[in-house]
Amino acid sequence: MHFQLTEEHLAVQDAAREFAKTELLPGVIERDTEAKFPKEQVQKMGELGFLGMMVKPKYNGGGMDTISYVLAMEELSKIDASASVCMSVNNSLVCWGLEKYGSEAQKEKYLKPLASGEVLGAFCLSEPEAGSDATSQQTSAELSGDHYILNGTKNWITNGSSASIYLVIAQTDASKGHKGISVFILEGGGEGFVVGKKEDKLGIRGSDTHSLMFTDVKVPVENRIGEEGFGFTFAMETLNGGRIGIAAQALGIAAGAYELALAYSKERKAFGKPISQHQAIQFKLADMATTIEAARLLVYKAAWLKDQGEDYSHASAMAKLYASQVAMDVTIEAIQVHGGYGYVKEYHVERLMRDAKITQIYEGTSEIQKIVISRGILR
Ligand code: CAA
Repeated sequence: MHFQLTEEHLAVQDAAREFAKTELLPGVIERDTEAKFPKEQVQKMGELGFLGMMVKPKYNGGGMDTISYVLAMEELSKIDASASVCMSVNNSLVCWGLEKYGSEAQKEKYLKPLASGEVLGAFCLSEPEAGSDATSQQTSAELSGDHYILNGTKNWITNGSSASIYLVIAQTDASKGHKGISVFILEGGGEGFVVGKKEDKLGIRGSDTHSLMFTDVKVPVENRIGEEGFGFTFAMETLNGGRIGIAAQALGIAAGAYELALAYSKERKAFGKPISQHQAIQFKLADMATTIEAARLLVYKAAWLKDQGEDYSHASAMAKLYASQVAMDVTIEAIQVHGGYGYVKEYHVERLMRDAKITQIYEGTSEIQKIVISRGILR
């Protein structure tokens, strides 16, 4: 066992850190305030290869491992979690499943532009009545000749209006429960496809989260991924990896808040010395540093297991559960270290606290992660 990153990993980490500082930091407060999608920034992320990091080069990807991906996610999330969630969804929830289970024709047509960042993808599982209870899909896909006809509503869709390619989970045979769920590649913008209003959120305000409505939307049969009935397994397997990305996002948010609190504590003076010289602050920094390191080990371990081809479903759930709690705890304490300055936008930590909260909710709430973990323990 060793805990060292390779030269390649360090290079990815450096590149992501540099990108976050030079491209994401400028304007991040304004984008949050105005709930503005980081369009130009995401475009540059695509040009630099951040949107298809793990996809094979023959499909326009970076051919990198999952460790590289979590390192990049961590660095981008320190600064702008609205941008990093686009990256996470495109890499883990869209490209991964297409590469693993898509046909050669689907990969040529859809994976290549997604991996190169030419277009963005979205993953459409959640519905108004099917969030944690994901088997209760109401969206239907009925076979009619060489097309399926999609009807239904999807909720909380990240990249909802900026995506061009949507992976849609839908019921093809309601009598079969979760074994009657299938997955389709849908090109956005067609007849009957409506993007609802952008959600006005607590955090990750720049990310464009929308409902999507389908009324008799036609999807060609060749756009089904795998066989009919494969959709739920596809979604669960996809989320196993997605949770590593969100765990890395939570880790980055926590680490970003900690770095700000540490720097501030050395500058800010109270009672004649920097506040970092007071034990009350030192203990907070010690707790932050320790829990962040523990979260980092869980995240890297889950990524490593995935790279080894081992089962990582429980490790990814543990990483997300723990890292998202650390993100909440650390961001709240980072505000406390900043005192009144932490409560205003200029110092960034209040945004990081608001951004942290979603990591306990999306891609499976903390309660769902505990279901996954306990089933793993008890099986
Ligand atoms: N990995 C692989 N397969 C899994 C799995 C996993 N983690 N969890 C369940 N499955 C399989 C089961 O083995 C079972 O398959 P078989 O019937 O072939 O044996 C099947 O799925 C059904 O499983 P359960 O009987 O356990 O189903 P359940 O209804 O009791 O519980 C659940 C399933 C784990 C709670 C699941 O519904 C779940 O994960 N819910 C949360 C959904 C979620 O994470 N949504 C996030 C939305 S996406 C998002 O947030 C994206 C974004 O934009 C950022």
